[in-house]
Amino acid sequence: MLELKHLSYAVQEDGGELGILNDISLTVGDGRLVVFTGPNGGGKTTLAKSIMGLVRPTGGRIFWNGQDITSMGITERARLGISYGFQQPPRFKGLTVRDLLTLASGNETLSKDRCCQYLTRVGLCANDYLDREVDASLSGGEVKRIEIASILARNAALMIFDEPEAGIDLWSFARLTETFEQLHAAGGATMIIISHQERIISLADEVIVVGEGRVRHRGTPEEILPRILTDTLGVCPVLRKEAMAK
Ligand SMILES: Nc1ncnc2c1ncn2[C@@H]1O[C@H](COP(=O)(O)OP(=O)(O)OP(=O)(O)O)[C@@H](O)[C@H]1O
Ligand SMILES: [Mg+2]
Repeated sequence: MLELKHLSYAVQEDGGELGILNDISLTVGDGRLVVFTGPNGGGKTTLAKSIMGLVRPTGGRIFWNGQDITSMGITERARLGISYGFQQPPRFKGLTVRDLLTLASGNETLSKDRCCQYLTRVGLCANDYLDREVDASLSGGEVKRIEIASILARNAALMIFDEPEAGIDLWSFARLTETFEQLHAAGGATMIIISHQERIISLADEVIVVGEGRVRHRGTPEEILPRILTDTLGVCPVLRKEAMAK
């Protein structure tokens, strides 16, 4: 179980303090699929990076299975079973797709068949990709899918996917949605998916809307989706004030 207690992250800007995350408290139970959604710049990636240890919160605590991990580094958290897929994945020159999957799985003798299974789940054909380097020659969508495959290979207890749909074509997206659905149905993994996609949001046990660094709404997809679709003024404070004055 993941617990965030009064999590805050502030940066110094123009002599003042800018709150990026403001007093976020939430719990993600074992085996749950939780989707974080909300406006651009709302704080979703910062929140995910705080859980992974890539961003050090300035306030609050993070607990994983009852253990306080707030001051732990990325490697230690990874060892505890937490994994994160970047919104814009890094490339690794000199490392092949097969190397990346092998490293992620922790199994030095990972078979071609297993690699193939992970790649198929993100809509890629192993024959075309296994020996390719994870470098600039791969397209944005390919690198994104390979990173998602590496998270699947890691088989972590907590998987965090940051906008897995970004840059992915409709056919592969359908395959990916199915993969998330199957993973969730099989149980075991706890998943946090950051997404703007209705198809992914509707898979969630719980949807958490993050805006202005706070939890703005939370509930089931049935409760939240209609609110997102009608909450068009929520992102602009000027428009919101004008609308309220009318
Ligand atoms: N180190 C930093 N210094 C200043 N501002 C920052 C810093 N890190 C994040 N921000 C700002 O915090 C806000 C939240 O960023 P974040 O990347 O978490 O948003 P997001 O919800 O993931 O957005 P998107 O949907 O566009 O991916 C943004 O306005 C961003 O510019
Ligand atoms: Mg983001």
